[in-house]
Order: sequence, then C-alpha cells, then structure tokens
Amino acid sequence: MVQINPNYLKLKAGYLFPEISRRVEVFKNQNPGSELIRLGIGDVTEPLPLACREAMKAAIDEMGTSSGFHGYGPEQGYQWLREAIAKNDYQVRGCEIAADEIFISDGSKCDSSNILDILGDQNRIAVTDPVYPVYVDSNVMTGHTGEVLDSGRYKGLSYLPISASNNFEVSLPSNAVDLIYLCFPNNPTGAVITKKKLLEWVDYARKNNALILFDAAYEAFIQDSSLPHSIYEIEGAKECAIEFRSFSKNAGFTGVRCAFTVIPKTLKGNVGNHDMIDIWSLWSRRQSTKFNGVSYIVQKGAEATYSASGKSQIKSLVDFYMKNATLIREKLTDMGLQVYGGTNAPYVWIKTPESMNSWTFFDHLLKRANVVGTPGSGFGASGEGYFRLSAFNSRSNVELAMKRIENI
Ligand code: MLT
Repeated sequence: MVQINPNYLKLKAGYLFPEISRRVEVFKNQNPGSELIRLGIGDVTEPLPLACREAMKAAIDEMGTSSGFHGYGPEQGYQWLREAIAKNDYQVRGCEIAADEIFISDGSKCDSSNILDILGDQNRIAVTDPVYPVYVDSNVMTGHTGEVLDSGRYKGLSYLPISASNNFEVSLPSNAVDLIYLCFPNNPTGAVITKKKLLEWVDYARKNNALILFDAAYEAFIQDSSLPHSIYEIEGAKECAIEFRSFSKNAGFTGVRCAFTVIPKTLKGNVGNHDMIDIWSLWSRRQSTKFNGVSYIVQKGAEATYSASGKSQIKSLVDFYMKNATLIREKLTDMGLQVYGGTNAPYVWIKTPESMNSWTFFDHLLKRANVVGTPGSGFGASGEGYFRLSAFNSRSNVELAMKRIENI
C-alpha cells in the first residue's frame, strides 16, 4: 500500500488564500448580484510595465529565429540578469553581493519553502506571529513540527509575537534557535525593521551559528530612506543570512513569475560533527536537479526592470499602490479605526472594532460592504483581533471600498 506523507495531516486547515476564496465563492453563489472588491490576497492589478512587455515581445521574436532560439537555460538563471540584480539591487547600496550568489527562480513562495530541502531536520525554528503562512506550513509538511495546538500554533516552533503591544517590533528569542524567518517590510502587518534592530538579529545569528531567512519581497515599497532594503546592508549578514526577493509586487509579475534568492558563498552550515559545509553549493546542486530555470522570455522581462525606463515605470507602479495604502490608512483612521502599516508596505493592518474576532470582521465586511480582506488570525494566533487590507487594486475600487466601509 502506498504511504503518504503523514505530516500533511497535521496541517490545520486549507491554505489561507484558497480558504478565503472558498468562502467568497459561497457568498457569491448566495448573493449573485453582489459586486465584490477584493483587498484580500496581495495580488497586483495594474498593467505590466511597458519596458518589460517590450523586452518580452523582443525575446519572443528572438526565439522565433534559428540564431536567437533558446532551449534549456542555466538552472541558476542567465548571467546577464544575475549581473543586473547584483549591480542595481546590491552593489549600489554598498552590499558586496556577486552575480553568481544570485539564483533566479519562479517565486519567493517556492524558494522560501524549497530551501528546507537543503536544511537539516533538527533545526530549532523561530517565526514571527503573525507570519506569512508559507514559512510555517512548509515546515509542517517537512515534518519539522509537532501537532497543531488549540491556539493554532504548532508544537516545536518558537513563535515571536508582534502586535501593537510591542509596537510590532520582533524581540530576539529567549531560547536558542537555529533557523529564523524574518520578513520586512512585513507581510502581513506592514511593520518595518530599522538597521539597528536588524543588526541585533545578525549579531544574534552569528553568535548562535543560526541562519536568517530574510524575505524582502516588499522592499520596493519602502519610503523611509533610513530603512534597510536588504539584510546585506548590515555588517556580518553575509555570514548568516539568505535573502528572498521577487519581481511580483514591484513589477507586477505575480502572473509572469520571476524572483530570486541570494545565497552568499560565505554561508556555512553544519552536518552532525562534520566540517562546516558551504550552503551555496548545496542550493546550486538542488536547483540543477529539481529546477529547469525561468524562461528566457520572462528573464528578459525581469532584466528590463533595471533599464532607465523600467526603473521609472516601476517607481510609478509602487507610488500608485502606496497612494492606495495612504488612502486606506487615512480613511480608516478618520472612521475611528486603529490602523498600522501601510507607510512602507502595501499592507494596512487594522485592529478590528469592538473586539470582533478576525473571521467575524471578515464576514461583516464581506456581507455588509462586499469588501474582501484577510483575517489576521489566518496569519497566526497573535493576528487574532486584526485584519489586513491590501493596497493592490485600482484607485476607483479602493475609493469605493472605503466609501462602502464608511457607510456601515
Ligand atoms: C499575500 O497576500 O500575503 C501574498 O500575496 C502572498 C504571496 O505573495 O504569496
């Protein structure tokens, strides 16, 4: 009899966003005339930048010629894209990241879970609470946790609460941990981390031989120039951190698919009592075996984000979504709600009114305003009593959503 991976049975429910879609479908079937506004999943809505479209069209034409045809590309990504990233995202900020330390992929969601392939089973793992659910669920699937508790937390993980009571600042764990997931600007709370705070994490990781998995998918939305865009802006981070980045949110590539992961060659990990092993080689080996790379056409589109016109078009997109975030923040604040985030991130994190629980508030907004958001409790126990609205939508939809919420 074929055996399944029993760890999947520990998962407490469906993945958050399909679960929301399921509930929304039920509502739509019961209310066929309703016109929903979706501010739930952080999926972009605005057209792809012209520079990217032109580059992808040119790449398609190139592929239609014998001399310009491309078959399998390098699994780690084309050198020209890796170089553009190293120069424009890192070297200009003083981070000494080389092109061959950058691995092109089809998404940060995939990379942040696939990375577990090359990490051991015995790591003590810390996640913030609330947290992007992929970090937790992928560890559950791999058997790195115990059963789910009544609180919704999993046995065996160290949870680091972030909420209004600690000003959304994540504290260092009181116990020793080996693997730490950090996401800044933060999904879901929209909170940020200062260089000083991030240095404390880097120091902690170096002292404890821990590894930080730093998700910087939302770095393009940072408005405050004092905040770090990359963990490698912090001294010592190349000895203790992997960084995930994506073209999904800044360039609108959620449907195109392109991202990258940075693994410095200086990163080492331990295997039992053996010598320290170089993590870069393991990831390169993993990608060569399990991944055939991102398409040439898509990588050409990603490369165009670093052209002068690409940079300015991306800035306009980011400005557009950040104006939505400001609008959401201001309108909800005027309505007397307590709101957080939304100033350096495309997510606004709201304290639910009248101590409503997160799913009750979800139903309330869905039924009364026909607005879809994301219940904070879906991101972890400490997200209970909060609610997330995403700034990714058209201006008219955001304005209409705010009017509808005001009316209830
Ligand atoms: C979110 O809404 O949290 C994001 O869209 C999730 C993701 O990027 O996978």
